[in-house]
Amino acid sequence: MARRNHFLIVINSMIAALFFTLHCIGCTAAVRGSSNGDGVGQWQLLLDNTEVVAMHMTLTHHNTVIIFDQTEAGPSGHRLRRRYNGTRCTQFRNDLADSSCYVHSVEYGISGNKLRPLRLSTDTWCSSGSFLSNGTLLQTGGHGSGAQGIRYFSPCGGNDNCDWRESRQSLADDRWYASSLLLPEEDRVIVVGGRRVFTYEFIPKQYSNEGSFDFPFLRNTHQRRQGGNNLYPFLHICPDGRLFIFANRDSILFNYKENRVVKHFPRIPGDGSRNYPSSGSSVILPLHYTNGFEKAEVMVCGGAASGAYSAAGDGRFLKGLTSCGRMVITGNRHNWNMENMPGPRLLCDMLLLPTGDVLIINGAKRGAGGWNNARNASLEPYLYHPNKTVGKRFSVLKSTRIPRMYHSSAILLPDGRVLVAGGNPHNRYVFENVAYPTELRLQAFVPDYMGSQHHQFRPTNVTIHYGHNNFYCVRYGGEFNVSFRLASKVSNAVEFSAYAPPFTSHSISMNQRLLRLRCKSLVRGQDGWVGAVLEAPPSPSVAPAGYYLLTVLNGGIPSLSQWIRIL
Ligand SMILES: *[C@@H]1O[C@H](CO)[C@@H](O)[C@H](O)[C@H]1NC(C)=O
Ligand SMILES: *[C@@H]1O[C@H](CO)[C@@H](O)[C@H](O)[C@H]1NC(C)=O
Ligand SMILES: *[C@@H]1O[C@H](CO)[C@@H](O)[C@H](O)[C@H]1NC(C)=O
Ligand SMILES: *[C@@H]1O[C@H](CO)[C@@H](O)[C@H](O)[C@H]1NC(C)=O
Ligand SMILES: *[C@@H]1O[C@H](CO)[C@@H](O)[C@H](O)[C@H]1NC(C)=O
Ligand SMILES: *[C@@H]1O[C@H](CO)[C@@H](O)[C@H](O)[C@H]1NC(C)=O
Repeated sequence: MARRNHFLIVINSMIAALFFTLHCIGCTAAVRGSSNGDGVGQWQLLLDNTEVVAMHMTLTHHNTVIIFDQTEAGPSGHRLRRRYNGTRCTQFRNDLADSSCYVHSVEYGISGNKLRPLRLSTDTWCSSGSFLSNGTLLQTGGHGSGAQGIRYFSPCGGNDNCDWRESRQSLADDRWYASSLLLPEEDRVIVVGGRRVFTYEFIPKQYSNEGSFDFPFLRNTHQRRQGGNNLYPFLHICPDGRLFIFANRDSILFNYKENRVVKHFPRIPGDGSRNYPSSGSSVILPLHYTNGFEKAEVMVCGGAASGAYSAAGDGRFLKGLTSCGRMVITGNRHNWNMENMPGPRLLCDMLLLPTGDVLIINGAKRGAGGWNNARNASLEPYLYHPNKTVGKRFSVLKSTRIPRMYHSSAILLPDGRVLVAGGNPHNRYVFENVAYPTELRLQAFVPDYMGSQHHQFRPTNVTIHYGHNNFYCVRYGGEFNVSFRLASKVSNAVEFSAYAPPFTSHSISMNQRLLRLRCKSLVRGQDGWVGAVLEAPPSPSVAPAGYYLLTVLNGGIPSLSQWIRIL
């Protein structure tokens, strides 16, 4: 009710004040500070004990965060009184060390800053995930009992009514260190690779005896003596529905419907490798309505030096890669444009921020992925501004004191902060007498754009209006309305973004995507109320069906985000 009334007020004031029509076509005149941004941002300590290592982390559309580790890590930060099979966990030594007497997954409620234990029954070590169009997480693979596991989590908003569900179906092959991606066909997911597994497969299967598909690209990019260097391949959907796949140093455009490599892109320049255990990171840069969402560019940053994995085994920790490459993957001309980060980095996470900038957070300066293979934590996040001139794109943000290297993760929250958790270079939870103990503290990095100095620009009261016949979702190519308030300062650059939140693990943010949406009209009413008519993305290859975070930006300052469902 409140929502509808509120929009009626907006509409009325719109009619009364049509002459206040603003331009909603994004314009580059930014209002926010013009300093280079070095040292900005803040760190918050949210919890001392997440109970489990945040090896995997993902945001649900109920504003909770699913966090999980491996189930065979032994004692975690939360001991159970009873196992899930009902037997008692005693004080005897066997039980004190028994993994099944401990929690290995939790749900974190953002607003309450509280944890709820979740029940995982097969091992999710180094696994993957994608959200389906109804907001259910489809989680795949792992190790041992879980290597072919398929699990679901349907979020219910932090109450006790939802938990992991193991599917009776299983994967065709073991998927340990595989990547998952939601495809444009509704609710179809591709899972690619795994340790010594050079295949991919779909969920659900299309026909009854469909198994996995041989994938020579993975065999060809695999460096056996270096731990593979092509695990957790980077996957991005092109706006034409084909798949960009990057492994080690090579990449292809892949037509998964025909099991056909469409083209090989040039090899990324420089030595070293980018995928696990070299563990660089990658994003598809924001897609833009101004070019009809037809242009797509990917970015790959950091990674490990050649031979870093075997060197780490010998106690030599080689300096990580400093370079990033950007390449347009649509059209016919492809070359990597290389630039340097402010320092070497691997085991890092790349997140797209609502501003369209890229945050590079977590990681290490030396070594490789894997147990105890990295040194010199990268404590300061980098911010990358894709649209600035080369040489001025990076800034170094405020550092934390907490190392986040192997088995850490980071995700963007609806309130514009970045949740940072995890870190454990040991195969058990180890808190003492080691250089890098298991890290259970939960932090948020608060980017500068959330600071109170920007509140005068910040759009508030963002409300989405789907219309009567749309069943609370936005249809491809259709219109929907957004109302919000701009208190005092109005810039001439009001922009709208839609963000697909990732499933994050091992430096890869699966399914992450940001779109700048077209605003067809923007009308300002009284008291700063604004009504905007937006155009939904044109197709599921531009934006696979599901829940997105909608953010309104005023002069580059974002609102709190609201969920929209695109179907
Ligand atoms: C319960 O689980 C424990 C640990 O996996 C196992 O040792 C025990 O046999 C199980 N008991 C029953 C009744 O299933
Ligand atoms: C969402 O879809 C999945 C897969 O089809 C299904 O298992 C689940 O029950 C659905 N969840 C809701 C909340 O409808
Ligand atoms: C890495 O850490 C070592 C030991 O703490 C220190 O001596 C060295 O200067 C650091 N190297 C870099 C590149 O930060
Ligand atoms: C940023 O760059 C992209 C890609 O080149 C372009 O489409 C977009 O319009 C630019 N955005 C701004 C705000 O300048
Ligand atoms: C607008 O949002 C503020 C807090 O951000 C809230 O206090 C206020 O009630 C909202 N106003 C309306 C009309 O929804
Ligand atoms: C969106 O706003 C326009 C006027 O600006 C109005 O005509 C239309 O009915 C609104 N649609 C919805 C779904 O609220």
